[in-house]
This record gives sequence, structure tokens and C-alpha cells, in this order.
Amino acid sequence: MADRKSTNITWHEGAITREDREKLLDQKGCVLWFTGLSASGKSTLALEVENTLHGRGRLTYVLDGDNIRHGLNKNLGFSPADREENIRRIGEVSKLFADSGVIVMTAFISPYRADRDTARALVEDERFIEVFVDCPLEVCEERDPKGLYKKARAGEIPEFTGISAPYEAPDHPELVINTAESTLAECSESVVKILEDRGLIPG
Ligand code: ADX
Repeated sequence: MADRKSTNITWHEGAITREDREKLLDQKGCVLWFTGLSASGKSTLALEVENTLHGRGRLTYVLDGDNIRHGLNKNLGFSPADREENIRRIGEVSKLFADSGVIVMTAFISPYRADRDTARALVEDERFIEVFVDCPLEVCEERDPKGLYKKARAGEIPEFTGISAPYEAPDHPELVINTAESTLAECSESVVKILEDRGLIPG
């Protein structure tokens, strides 16, 4: 948990509410939290879902681990404490996006259950959907699009998730997607369906 250093601060309510924004957008702000090993397909799936939703006139935004680490989180590495702070910030950013009415998709390994639960606790239950992108380590390692598994096996990247750092699979994710067994289109359809089933987007 980040230390609180700010005092004498006051929360201001805006005149325009989340409901007002959602009426404008005809959707409900929510968080699709993709979690899984590196190369499991989190970003690919998030971008595919985004494509479909955009085509249906829905407002979305993807927060991607590799991208966010170029900017907002560029001062963080991969120690457990830095990963915790990475996910804490993304949880807070996601909460803001969801409050703006946007369908936000996060694609971070987010290997620690406790950190994901902290992110979950920031938004209402029905507006947080944890999607476990469940792809066997062997398959991720075979894909190795950035050559990182190879480097990690050679001892060139310390604390690499799945090799020398842990990945804690979710106990009760809202959705489990196996990207090794299903096509991208099938995976994407199940994500879109859960948004419809929950009334977060029109059917
Ligand atoms: S997280 O664990 O803090 O959630 P995040 O999703 O932001 O990780 O970043 C993961 C990406 O950083 C990987 O897809 C990979 O490209 C890169 N990366 C570099 N070093 C590591 C490492 N030690 N462990 C995992 N991923 C790493």
C-alpha cells in the first residue's frame, strides 16, 4: 500500500455524474482485468475485444503493461514491491476510466492475487471482470515473441514471471480463456458476451 503523504485535501463532487456520462455513451464504465503470463495473449485479446466493441460504437481504452511502463510507470521494475505499485497505479487509473464511463481493459501480468484483489476492490462488483488468460507456460515459451523466455532461461533476465518469479493464478476469475485451445475470435466473443450478460453494453 502506498504511504499517504497528502493532508488537508478535500474531495469535490462534479455536477455531471457517472450516470450522466453513461447515458451519453449508452454503456456502463467497467474494468476488464486480463491477467496471465507474458505471451499468454492478454494484449492481443484486449485489442481484439476493443476492435469489436469499437465497431459496435462502444468507447474503450486499453492499458497495456509494456506501454504503461514506457511512461506512467517507467520508474518501476519487476521486484514484488514494484509490481505491486505497478498494479496499484493501474487499479487507480482503471477506476478513473470506469468512472468516466469508458470500458477499460488492462493487460498486465499482475502475478499477485492480493494486488489484483486490491484493484478489484476499487470498483463495484458487477463492474470488475477478471479474465484469466490461461495459456500453459510451455506454449508461452514456444511463442516467445520478444525472445524474453530465452533470455530468462539463460539467466539474463532476473525475476522473470513463470521462470524465476511466481505467477499466482486467480481462484475465482469471472472468465477463463485458454488462448492455446481457442481461436482469437472465440476468445473475444466470450469476453464481449459477459459484457452483454451483465448489461454493461447493449445486446
Ligand atoms: S507485472 O508483473 O508488473 O504486471 P507488466 O505486465 O507490467 O508486469 O509487464 C510485463 C512485461 O514486461 C512482459 O510482457 C515483458 O515484455 C516485460 N518484462 C521485462 N522483464 C520482465 C520480468 N522480469 N518479468 C516479467 N515480464 C518482464
